[in-house]
Parts: sequence; C-alpha cells; structure tokens
Amino acid sequence: MKLNATIIAIIITLAFIGAAVASMPGHQAKFAGGGMGGVTFDGTTHAQAGLSCTECHTAIFQMARTAKITMADHNNGTFCFSCHQEGGRAFSATNCIRCHTQ
Ligand code: HEC
Ligand code: HEC
Ligand code: HEC
Repeated sequence: MKLNATIIAIIITLAFIGAAVASMPGHQAKFAGGGMGGVTFDGTTHAQAGLSCTECHTAIFQMARTAKITMADHNNGTFCFSCHQEGGRAFSATNCIRCHTQ
C-alpha cells in the first residue's frame, strides 16, 4: 500500500511537470454528452468539496482523457457515478441537468 502511494505521488509529480501543467490545479474535463448536453467536470469545485487527487486517480479515472462514459455507467456506479449515486458522496445520477448543462 505504501509503495502504491509512492508511485501515485510520483505520477502526480510527473503530471505537474509535464504538459498537463496547464490544466493543474483545478483541471476541467469537457465531455460532449451524447445528445443530452455537454458536461463539464470542474476540478476546482471537486477540490473545494475536499477531494484529493488520489481519490479519483487512478482508481476511478486515469490521468488522461480516456474515459468512455456510457448510460450503463450512470446506473452501475462507475466513473463519476462511484460518487454521484443515491446515498453516495454527491448528488445522484438522477439529477441529469446538474451535469448536462451545455
Ligand atoms: C473528483 C475526481 C477527480 C479529482 C479529485 C481529481 N481529478 Fe484529475 N481528472 C478527473 C477526470 C474526470 C478527468 C478526465 C478523465 C477522462 O477524461 O478520462 C481528469 C483528468 C486529469 C488529468 C488529465 C488532463 C488532460 O487534459 O489530459 C490530469 C493530469 C489530472 N486529472 C490530474 C489531477 C490532479 C493532479 C489532481 C489533484 C490536484 C486531480 N486530477 C484530481 C477527475 C478528478
Ligand atoms: C470521488 C467522488 C466524485 C467523483 C468521482 C465525481 N464527483 Fe462530482 N462531486 C463530488 C462531490 C463530493 C461534490 C460536491 C457535493 C455535491 O455537489 O453533491 C461534487 C460536485 C459536482 C458538481 C457540482 C459542482 C460543479 O462543479 O458544478 C458537478 C457538476 C459534478 N460533481 C460533476 C461530476 C462529473 C461530471 C464527474 C465525472 C466526470 C464527477 N463529478 C465525479 C464527488 C465526486
Ligand atoms: C454526475 C454527472 C452526470 C449526471 C448526474 C448525469 N450524467 Fe449523463 N453523462 C455524464 C458524463 C460525464 C457523460 C459522458 C459524456 C461524453 O463522453 O461525451 C454522460 C453521458 C451521457 C449520455 C451518453 C451516453 C453514451 O453512451 O454516449 C447520455 C444519453 C446521458 N449521459 C444521459 C443522462 C441522463 C438521462 C441523466 C439523468 C437521468 C444523466 N445523464 C445524468 C455525466 C452525468
């Protein structure tokens, strides 16, 4: 476990040093939204909610734009919905327009 934490810390350091610096801290990720309206993930509001990098990276999300989020994910608690679900840490997946804003 200690070793994992060290590796993650190194990855995070490299991410800061690398080209991704422009998006740190408070990175945003924009998703087209599959016809429901675009979704903006805002790293700043999530940091303000008390979340640290390692709570999402890399157990839930890679540090790259790779996630392909489907309708099934909305209901089975993966990606965003590991927190955004009924009884979860954040407002649930049923609040479509809180995410699909554009
Ligand atoms: C609440 C979850 C969450 C937290 C906390 C979080 N991120 Fe992210 N991060 C994401 C998501 C979502 C993406 C986009 C992933 C995708 O599209 O596959 C992302 C993408 C990234 C990327 C790639 C950006 C790009 O444009 O290529 C980097 C680098 C990154 N995060 C670093 C960090 C660092 C450093 C922290 C802590 C300061 C952090 N993240 C905190 C969810 C989070
Ligand atoms: C590790 C847990 C976690 C993950 C993963 C996560 N969120 Fe959140 N999110 C939170 C918390 C906590 C809040 C603040 C409490 C609330 O608003 O219910 C929040 C708030 C938000 C908000 C309201 C604040 C704002 O930025 O407008 C939006 C929108 C949002 N999340 C979208 C997303 C999207 C889209 C993803 C996936 C790309 C995602 N979240 C992934 C925990 C998470
Ligand atoms: C916590 C944020 C969040 C909530 C709440 C949310 N979505 Fe999404 N949704 C996303 C993200 C992020 C994507 C990925 C969009 C992309 O990749 O372009 C997505 C994608 C989708 C897609 C496209 C799926 C695909 O396979 O291409 C549909 C349709 C959709 N959402 C419908 C809904 C509906 C209906 C609701 C309410 C019942 C909802 N969403 C609630 C964040 C959210």
